[in-house]
Amino acid sequence: MDTKDLYKASDNRYDHSSVLYARCGKSGVLLPKVSLGFWHNFGSVDPYERSREITHYAFDHGITHFDLANNYGPVFGSAEQTLGRLMNDDFRPYRDELFISTKAGYNMWPGPYGEWGSRKYLMASLDQSLERMHLDYVDLFYSHRFDPDTPMEETLQALVDIVRSGKALYVGLSNWPLDGLRFAHQYLKERDVPLLIYQGRLNMIDRVQIESGILDYCADNGIGYIAYSPLAQGLLTDRYINGIPADSRMAKQQFLKPDRLTEELKLTLEQIRQEAAQKGQTTAQRALSWILEQQGVTSVLVGASSVNQLRDNLSTII
Ligand SMILES: NC(=O)c1ccc[n+]([C@@H]2O[C@H](COP(=O)([O-])OP(=O)(O)OC[C@H]3O[C@@H](n4cnc5c(N)ncnc54)[C@H](OP(=O)(O)O)[C@@H]3O)[C@@H](O)[C@H]2O)c1
Repeated sequence: MDTKDLYKASDNRYDHSSVLYARCGKSGVLLPKVSLGFWHNFGSVDPYERSREITHYAFDHGITHFDLANNYGPVFGSAEQTLGRLMNDDFRPYRDELFISTKAGYNMWPGPYGEWGSRKYLMASLDQSLERMHLDYVDLFYSHRFDPDTPMEETLQALVDIVRSGKALYVGLSNWPLDGLRFAHQYLKERDVPLLIYQGRLNMIDRVQIESGILDYCADNGIGYIAYSPLAQGLLTDRYINGIPADSRMAKQQFLKPDRLTEELKLTLEQIRQEAAQKGQTTAQRALSWILEQQGVTSVLVGASSVNQLRDNLSTII
């Protein structure tokens, strides 16, 4: 596809609305049960046209939620730049149909103000994100991780003020412990900026968020929950059945290393594969539907390096 080609979204994009969307906690927001993450495959190292095709496929099928963070790439910031380019090339007419999130918390720029949870960092980071994405506001801004050295009140008040400034419509937390989540929920509620959603890692081979009580807390308190790495970065698919493909995330050896595939894990994955086959599902479909069956889960936040992968993932629902 040539970048100059005009994109027109499919007229059928909301055909599956009745099964695709779920209410995010007790809010007015509906999110697609399968959302698209920009952590990998949207950086400056990735072919723009492929990223573009994936987002077209997503939006054409009703995936309205794109999830970013300041440092997604590589290089840091470049996934947001890709989103900015996509806004200019294709999605500007559809801005009000999109629910775009970004985050700040992890290492982004050098020095003492380039990571964690200070007001200084969060405010500056969101301004930078908006500039890269060519947006006036994001729908959702997250504190990307809990900062044990910054008073929670400082981080949370920054979130409140960000919403009041109009630069984000809603706020969320990611990777916060249960105690912090409890405190944040109360703090934000008292300031009329309800906590919309919690983003945590949850999949069939990583159930810590269930065991720690975070998912239950969200379900009991009307907070949405979105599961990241629902396919365990590709382990819960057929990607590695015949070894490590050269273009796979594991081959890059950065976030998913080959030593993760222990004999014990291989056995577990084989059992999951058989379970999926018995239900007439692909491994990925089984992994995603398992998460969506958990009470309190609003959406699974998938990554995809091709349209085919996204199609497979979305066919869990539609
Ligand atoms: N809040 C946080 O701290 C945090 C942390 C991590 C992620 N996230 C968010 O969650 C999103 C998803 O994370 P993730 O990329 O780890 O999710 P994931 O869905 O578990 O893994 C995605 C990877 O799995 C492979 N894959 C996906 N669908 C497949 C299919 N149907 N068949 C075969 N392989 C398939 C692809 O790997 P290949 O590239 O090898 O093809 C793809 O890049 C991120 O983009 C980000 O938005 C948030």
